[in-house]
Amino acid sequence: MTEDFISRARYEREVTAREAAERLLEQKSHDLYRLNVELLSKSDSLAIEVQERTRELSKALEAAQAATRAKDLFLANMSHEVRTPLTGILGVAQLLAESDLSQEQHELLDNLQASCSTLKNIIDDLLDLKSLERGRVQFRLYPFDPVEVIDSLVARYEPVATSSGNRLVHVTSLSSSRLRMGDRTRFEQVVANLLTNALKFTQNGTIEIKSCISDSDVTVVVSDSGIGMQSDQLERIFEDFTQADSQIAARYGGTGLGLSIVRMIMSQLGGSIHVTSKPDEGSSFTAVFPIVAASSEDFLVRPGGVVHSPSMSLQGKRILLAEDNRINAKVIRTFVAKHHGETTLATGGLEALGKAASEKYDLMIFDINMPDIGGVELLHRIRTSRACAINSGTPALACTANAMPDQIANYIESGFSGVIRKPFEAHEFIAGVAAGLAAK
Ligand SMILES: Nc1ncnc2c1ncn2[C@@H]1O[C@H](COP(=O)(O)OP(=O)(O)OP(=O)(O)O)[C@@H](O)[C@H]1O
Ligand SMILES: [Mg+2]
Repeated sequence: MTEDFISRARYEREVTAREAAERLLEQKSHDLYRLNVELLSKSDSLAIEVQERTRELSKALEAAQAATRAKDLFLANMSHEVRTPLTGILGVAQLLAESDLSQEQHELLDNLQASCSTLKNIIDDLLDLKSLERGRVQFRLYPFDPVEVIDSLVARYEPVATSSGNRLVHVTSLSSSRLRMGDRTRFEQVVANLLTNALKFTQNGTIEIKSCISDSDVTVVVSDSGIGMQSDQLERIFEDFTQADSQIAARYGGTGLGLSIVRMIMSQLGGSIHVTSKPDEGSSFTAVFPIVAASSEDFLVRPGGVVHSPSMSLQGKRILLAEDNRINAKVIRTFVAKHHGETTLATGGLEALGKAASEKYDLMIFDINMPDIGGVELLHRIRTSRACAINSGTPALACTANAMPDQIANYIESGFSGVIRKPFEAHEFIAGVAAGLAAK
């Protein structure tokens, strides 16, 4: 009886406990279900949010890409619009400089040429920045003498140095053969940027350029005793449109582009650039160019630093020029004639087509925008027409102010061996022609 009582009491306790456990389980599974529903709805709204955000981001990306395209297009159009008349001004000024002028006229003309060069440099800088940013710069390798380049820069900037009471010196470690294989223009551009900065930021002081040539590289150090910089400023000055501080533009002018171009050129050349500086003591920029010795037998260096190889001579070379701008045509003919070459001029694409059918040329130079048929179409017709078969293999150069990196890539794709960018100076034009003839 007592046992029965005990087991009944235990049974009831167990039943109560089981019921409690079942209630708890039910409660928990209910909670779990609720949480699960909440979680599902949260994950749904999260997915919607992510979708919305992704849509917003891709819209913003599209807008940014459209803005960049519009900016590129604007830059391309503007550069073309400015370059075309500048080609004429620069060319005529160069021709005038070679004619009989009085002392005063020469001085006026010097000013005109200097202003044109500055304008051309600014446009080149902006375009350079674009192509350097995209890593699409093509370096042109010719043998050149780095010491001669620096000496001619020193000669060019001597009057500027003197006018601000500065002493400008170039010290070089002599070497028996100084010819090096590299991109002379880029080398000069880097040194000129460092030198003009040193001159700009120094008054009544000294600017010293040291050049040191080894078998594998050329090191150029440009030191000045000018205003110098704080160490925290040194990190910023190689960025685009950045100057050491906000006073600089007001006091010294400039856009803060020079050193960013230098940095990009040096990095794409595989070289290096670094700076040390102290406020009020001066700055020292060191650029190391990886350029190797050239064999002087293959090339001939003319006085004045313009380098031609014997195969680049224009003696006896016949050039077909299609150019509708009268002034540009005259400038080009004169440049070619001065190098003993011969130009046949067509003032439009159709006339050029006729001339290409009747005579064989060594090189063809086509303006891209001509009223009847443009340079690209003209080249295509010459390359594919039977009538022009004699010139189907003649190398062709585009000569144009439409010279943004994408446009240059298009010309090359259309069969041009190279592009001469307008405006050009005489030596740039002749170097382009020489490269075009060598492309045969
Ligand atoms: N030799 C120097 N001495 C003192 N400060 C310098 C020197 N070289 C460069 N800097 C500082 O670095 C900044 C950037 O130089 P950078 O050549 O890029 O621009 P900029 O000379 O001001 O303008 P730009 O070269 O576009 O005409 C300068 O504004 C100046 O503050
Ligand atoms: Mg500068």
